[in-house]
Amino acid sequence: MAVPFVEDWDLVQTLGEGAYGEVQLAVNRRTEEAVAVKKVDTARALDCPENIKKEICINKMLNHPNIVRFYGHRREANIQYLFLEYCSGGELFDRIEPDVGMSEVDAHRFFQQLIAGVEYLHSIGITHRDIKPENLLLDDRDNLKLSDFGLATVYRHNNRERLLNKMCGTLPYVAPELLRRKEFHAEPVDIWSCGIVLVAMLAGELPWDQPADSCQEYCDWNEKKLYLTPWKKIDPVPLSLLNKILIESPKNRATISDIKKDRWFVNQFKRGVKRARLSSGSPNDSQGPFSKHIHSNVDLSPVSGVSWSEDQTRYSSSQPEPRVAVSSWESSHSSIDNLVQGISFSQPTCTDHMLVGSQLQSTPGSSQNPWQRLVKRMTRFFTKLNAEHSYLALKEVCEKLGYIWKKNCNNQVTISTMDRRNNKLIFKVNLIEMNERILVDFRLSKGDGLEFKRHFVTIKHKLSDIIYSQKVLLPVI
Ligand code: ADE
Repeated sequence: MAVPFVEDWDLVQTLGEGAYGEVQLAVNRRTEEAVAVKKVDTARALDCPENIKKEICINKMLNHPNIVRFYGHRREANIQYLFLEYCSGGELFDRIEPDVGMSEVDAHRFFQQLIAGVEYLHSIGITHRDIKPENLLLDDRDNLKLSDFGLATVYRHNNRERLLNKMCGTLPYVAPELLRRKEFHAEPVDIWSCGIVLVAMLAGELPWDQPADSCQEYCDWNEKKLYLTPWKKIDPVPLSLLNKILIESPKNRATISDIKKDRWFVNQFKRGVKRARLSSGSPNDSQGPFSKHIHSNVDLSPVSGVSWSEDQTRYSSSQPEPRVAVSSWESSHSSIDNLVQGISFSQPTCTDHMLVGSQLQSTPGSSQNPWQRLVKRMTRFFTKLNAEHSYLALKEVCEKLGYIWKKNCNNQVTISTMDRRNNKLIFKVNLIEMNERILVDFRLSKGDGLEFKRHFVTIKHKLSDIIYSQKVLLPVI
């Protein structure tokens, strides 16, 4: 499908969906540049036009290697299009193995980049207000980028800080004062959610549903019951940092400057020395369902030979270069400019590229094109069966697990259940025929992402005898 107003850009896939609309991947037929296009239907909610204006305005202020780059925006009738840096590494969320997390080395590097991004935001008086792994994207070199400024706001202007009073964010990640106080400072709330992200990275679980006295796990933490999960899974050195961040009183909570002095934070890990205590075996043989290596015949591991400490941010080879004192909407890329401005070229200049462009959807596993990198989303597998038998096998397993099963059109089903904490969990499964195999692709619609992954692992385990386990490329879809 072509971008409605620019012929030489194809919309090749949906990257994500939300209440606002969807994010799609647009690829230029001639240059093969890739851009994420966020489509927002401003007619959907009364306050939407104002909200989207604010999101655009904030995006224009941003310029940092750990923040998704904003190329510009364009309005067509009720639809606002935001053009953003495409992060081919997917969400940080997808690097977290349920109940395990990830290696401490990886968590350390991602956390340093997260703090660099948040420090920058705060330096210009902006708070994100919804920091969580789903809003942390990774580029092709595994650099972390803060994304989605739909809830962000300005809390400091002309050196004057205003207190916030709006309750927003995602309950397991919000700071306790947001649930208790009428007004609160912005910075400690973002810092708290960075702490929860760190717990998720190091333990593969969230510590509580919400930081309220009605929540037993939260009370246990305040009573320093560190022998309980998730704390018992975390090494004492990063745990000591969490002890400074997850402090109930925002006044006593670590600031970014405190975090930057913390022993674990400043630690210079030697690459490959300190792996996760919890992953089995050697660094390369982890066979968990979310292992970076398992379903791929290409190396999905972070770029080797780069020292973490010396090079916190590895610049992308295929994305535009990082901005140096250039405002974010002054892109130096004419094809992206044309996309933003809606300028169309009716004739692609290079037929080879045109062919590649037209094949993009039919050969999604190909790694020929620079833009066409693997999205490291691991909630999918290929089966050994045809579509009908794959569907029936999945249905049988889901029914045995007591899930509610609803068939939609286009080989899609919606599955609903309750998670361990009795919260609603809804996910969609698409069965897609691809290179004569059936790809079973799971996507979360509603609920906690880590719980979703736990259910995925259970289903996958129960279907292990029909899963095609040869190394195959998992495509971008
Ligand atoms: N999903 C949402 N925004 C995205 C982006 N900028 N790149 C990749 N996937 C995304």
